[in-house]
Amino acid sequence: LSAFKKYQDRINLFLAQQLNACDASDSELKSAMAYSLMSGGKRIRPLLVYATAESIQCDLLIADHIAAAIEMIHAYSLIHDDLPAMDDDDLRRGQATNHIKFGEATAILAGDALQSLAYTTLAQTPIDAQIVVDLVQTLSQQSGLLGMAGGQSLDLISENQTINLQQLETIHAAKTGALLCACVSMVVKTKPNLNQTEQLLFQQFAKNFGMAFQIIDDILDVTQDTKTLGKPANSDTKNNKATYPSLMGIAGAKSKATEHINLAYQALADLPYPTDLLNTLAKVVLNRDH
Ligand code: IPE
Ligand code: IPE
Ligand code: MG
Ligand code: MG
Ligand code: MG
Repeated sequence: LSAFKKYQDRINLFLAQQLNACDASDSELKSAMAYSLMSGGKRIRPLLVYATAESIQCDLLIADHIAAAIEMIHAYSLIHDDLPAMDDDDLRRGQATNHIKFGEATAILAGDALQSLAYTTLAQTPIDAQIVVDLVQTLSQQSGLLGMAGGQSLDLISENQTINLQQLETIHAAKTGALLCACVSMVVKTKPNLNQTEQLLFQQFAKNFGMAFQIIDDILDVTQDTKTLGKPANSDTKNNKATYPSLMGIAGAKSKATEHINLAYQALADLPYPTDLLNTLAKVVLNRDH
């Protein structure tokens, strides 16, 4: 889709600018940061930010900062997720994982520094200082103890354990859903005039989008090959993770994901804004092959 290509190019350019603005000189750490941040990826989170911005007419110069900050947190989370102490994977986006390429210590630090750069970038958002503070608070909450990092912790603790569907839902909502919710809610927060109902509908859209996203990720882990995924197939099986396919089978998981995407569509349909791009993004997430 040409709108997606346009925004992918836009975020790639902006991310490169932010990284290069850090320091004129190159260093091992900066190379490691660039290696993971600039290695492509689907850029789903930035697309979600831009699609929400289009919907409620948020200035794209503001959206750039939100999209970049979230994508930097995402890149950091992937570097750490692949470490031997976590999922212990050696392939990401079709190339060696950060720690395979640069060593564990540098990979850990690249994740740390990307997290810091996310907040440098967010602090520079061209909008009222009061809103910037609100954005910083939202992103830090959604990536921290009660969000991504907390979810990752539960995900690891649950390896080799039997957990129920409700517990798995909690893990997925935190480790993956929280950042995807941030993509929508941070843009919504730039428009303080949106009423309560509208805010709630955007939140419902994002929550369901996030759940579907991780359920599909779990399905792809056991149905696609390594080449298509660009990351090792059957990583979850190797680590004896609790996943949707392991709890309810592939067909059950697929229908659960479809259910969530239908709820996401429903939320969009109830909003008094154009939501074409958000709709398309939801469809892409459900039908993706990697
Ligand atoms: C992978 O995210 C990690 C999950 C939260 C499932 P993506 O599937 O968005 O990874 P990239 O950024 O496109 O590589
Ligand atoms: C990771 O989930 C979620 C993150 C917060 C990074 P996974 O461990 O399933 O992600 P992949 O499959 O390695 O991309
Ligand atoms: Mg993981
Ligand atoms: Mg993983
Ligand atoms: Mg996975």
